[in-house]
Parts: sequence; structure tokens; C-alpha cells
Amino acid sequence: MRGAIALAARALGETSPNPVVGCVVLDAAGRTVGEGFHAFAGGPHAEVVALEQAGDLARGGTAVVTLEPCDHHGRTGPCSQALLDAGVRRVVYAVADPSDNASGGARRLADAGVEIESGVLSAEAERGNAEWLTYARRGRPHVTWKFAATLDGRSAAADGTSQWITGTAARDDVHRLRARCDAIIAGSGTVLADDPRLTVRGFIPHDHLNTHRRPLRVIADGRARTPLGSRVLDDEAPTLIAISEDTAAAVLEVTTAVVRLPRGRRAGVDLTALLAELTEREIVSVLLEGGPTLAGAFLAEGLVDRVVAYLAPTLLGGGAAALGDAGVATLAQAYDLDIEDVTTIGPDLRIIAAVRDRANRGKAAGERPLRAGREDADLAAFIGARPAPSRREN
Ligand SMILES: NC(=O)c1ccc[n+]([C@@H]2O[C@H](COP(=O)([O-])OP(=O)(O)OC[C@H]3O[C@@H](n4cnc5c(N)ncnc54)[C@H](OP(=O)(O)O)[C@@H]3O)[C@@H](O)[C@H]2O)c1
Repeated sequence: MRGAIALAARALGETSPNPVVGCVVLDAAGRTVGEGFHAFAGGPHAEVVALEQAGDLARGGTAVVTLEPCDHHGRTGPCSQALLDAGVRRVVYAVADPSDNASGGARRLADAGVEIESGVLSAEAERGNAEWLTYARRGRPHVTWKFAATLDGRSAAADGTSQWITGTAARDDVHRLRARCDAIIAGSGTVLADDPRLTVRGFIPHDHLNTHRRPLRVIADGRARTPLGSRVLDDEAPTLIAISEDTAAAVLEVTTAVVRLPRGRRAGVDLTALLAELTEREIVSVLLEGGPTLAGAFLAEGLVDRVVAYLAPTLLGGGAAALGDAGVATLAQAYDLDIEDVTTIGPDLRIIAAVRDRANRGKAAGERPLRAGREDADLAAFIGARPAPSRREN
């Protein structure tokens, strides 16, 4: 299963709105005879690739898959049927498929007499598919909040200077993160202060479709303050500006894709409505790039799933905090996170941590392996994922 999980990770960020899936086929004697992963939406499923490689050697053998084989007729046909046709005797999978139209593969295989084992390395496989599983289970995109700060948690000095807190290697790494998500969200405050481009630069993922991924840029801009000459309005990537429904008709609406949403609880736009809008557009994974006010609002509404922190070995002692008001008044209300990866990137530190469910707040974290190093960073980043709430395409 570890091999299947590593195979799945090869297509990280390239399968949206589908999950990443890896499969290893063993022959009757337990030797690996086929390996495959789902490379892109519309491409063959992992099981089909691995079975094709295995050929007749799959007969009487075992298929090890990170996600329950699908059971629906899409462009490539149900994987459950492909496994039956190949004469596989046993199927081992890590995580059950929660999507409405694709689940049921295990049941169909069991009904046909195939031996089924589920839940193998499920925690690791879940982390690898966190984005898709969040989308499928919660019906909203998975949200990763990324920020850069000094070791004492400052994102700018007292005079407002903030470029650059982290080094070039950490900033390059952000482009890897961007390349693997479907949308990048920032608040109007960041657009006004920094005029960021929010594009993927200097990092070209191995793209099986041969197209350069351009995540949708989304600006939470209740009062339509995004200046017309902003870099987020250039042609480098598509952009959506979310303004509140009671904001007077904006000039922006003439030139840009604008969506009107209910007012947010504190300010700006309603974030649940914003994510629902993105779900409609089959956005599975979101990179929230701040700033501190918007990040605090996302956290306060329980809409942050993972945090990626780039920490520079610098101290400021003053200036803006990386996170604004997140609705925490006392220590007991603090957000608990489980660290999933700690890596040094150039002179800086990158910490990846999952935000624990509110229901699990305050409970002791189970033991989790800390990984370090670039190869495992792929697996660590695989700590995320993608779903169409009730849809799994072929
Ligand atoms: N170090 C880092 O990683 C990092 C990253 C990003 C930014 N920054 C820094 O952060 C500073 C800007 O901070 P900021 O907090 O003003 O920017 P921000 O969080 O990007 O934007 C805040 C604005 O977002 C709008 N908004 C829309 N929907 C909202 C909602 N539901 N809840 C709250 N706000 C919502 C509000 O304006 P409306 O009411 O007009 O909608 C609000 O004033 C800059 O100096 C930038 O350099 C640092």
C-alpha cells in the first residue's frame, strides 16, 4: 500500500476534480506485476493502468489500491468490472469512496466472490487525498492557509515593510503550492497593500495534459476596492472578484468576472457562500494567501483545513501579526493542529499542519511521523486532495 500511495502522489495537483489514486497489482505468488496511477481527469484510472501492465499475470492475484475501486460507467468504465475481467482474486484498498456515483465498487467485487480488505494504511492514504475527500464529504473545497512570518509570528515590521521575510527557496516553494491548487484566494487588503500577481511562476509541474496550470485568482473584496490596474486583473490567469450584494454597481463588473455574495459576518463577503460558488466551479483545492484579516475570518468559520507556515529565522518583536482575529478569546478556544511535515527550505522552516476538527479540540494528538526532505515533501503535500461532492469523473 505504501507503494500505491507513492504512485498516487505522482499526480498531485493534476487530477482535479478527481482524486489521486495509485494501484499495485501482485501476481498469485505476490510479485509486483503492474503499477499505475490516475494521471489526469479524463485519463485512465490507476487500476486500469496497473492491470494493463500486469496482463494475464493479474489472474488469481491481488490489486492494492489507495481508494475503493469505482463502480460507475464513465469514460473508462467501472474499475470494479475491470478487476473482475482481469480475474483478480483479492482487492485491498485504503479508503472507501464517499462520492455518490462512484462508491459501491467493493460491494460489487465482494458479491462476485473477490476477497476484500479495506482500511489498510487508511490514515496515510487519507492525508494523500485530503483535498478530494474534503470536497466529496463536505461539499466544499479543501482550504490550505499559507503564510510567511518571522520566528516570532510577524508578517511585517512596524513600518509595514514585509518584502521579503523568507528567502528565495521558500518563495519558490510557494509556486509549487500554487501549481497544485485550483484557486488562490486573497483579501482586498492584500491587493491594496502589495498588488500581488498570485500566479504560478518559475515552477512547471509535469503536466500530463501539456497545459500550464493557471489557478483561478479569487479576491474577497466586499466593497469592490480592487483597483482597475491591479496585477490580479492582468491576463496571466483567470480572476474572480467576490463583492457583497449590497455594494453599489462597480466599474469592476464591466471588465472583470464578478460574483455578488451575501455580506460576511464581520466584513466583506460570506465565506461559506464564496466556497459554495467555487464548488459550483469544481474548485477542489484552495490556497488561501491571506492576509491576516481574511485568514482570521476563514479560521473563525471553521473553513481552514491545513496550514503551511514558512518561518524565517528572524525576530521583529513588533509589527503586524501573521494571523488576525480568529475568534479566540481564551486559550481553551485555541485552534489545535497536528503537524504533518517539518522541512527546512533554504534558511527557512516550512511547517505543514492539519487543523483538527472542532469536535476533536483539546484531545491529545496521536503519534504522527515527522518527515523531512524533498521526496517526502511530495508525500507531505499529498497531504491534501480533491472531490466533486457527488461527482467523480472518469
Ligand atoms: N506574510 C504573509 O504571508 C502575508 C500574506 C498576505 C498578506 N500579507 C500582508 O497583510 C497585509 C494586509 O492585511 P489585511 O488583513 O488588511 O488584508 P486581507 O486579509 O488580505 O484583506 C482584508 C480585507 O478582506 C476583505 N474581506 C472580504 N471578505 C471578508 C471576510 N469574510 N472577512 C474579513 N475580511 C473580508 C475586507 O475588506 P472589504 O470589507 O472591503 O471586503 C477586509 O478588510 C499586507 O501588508 C500584506 O503584505 C502578508
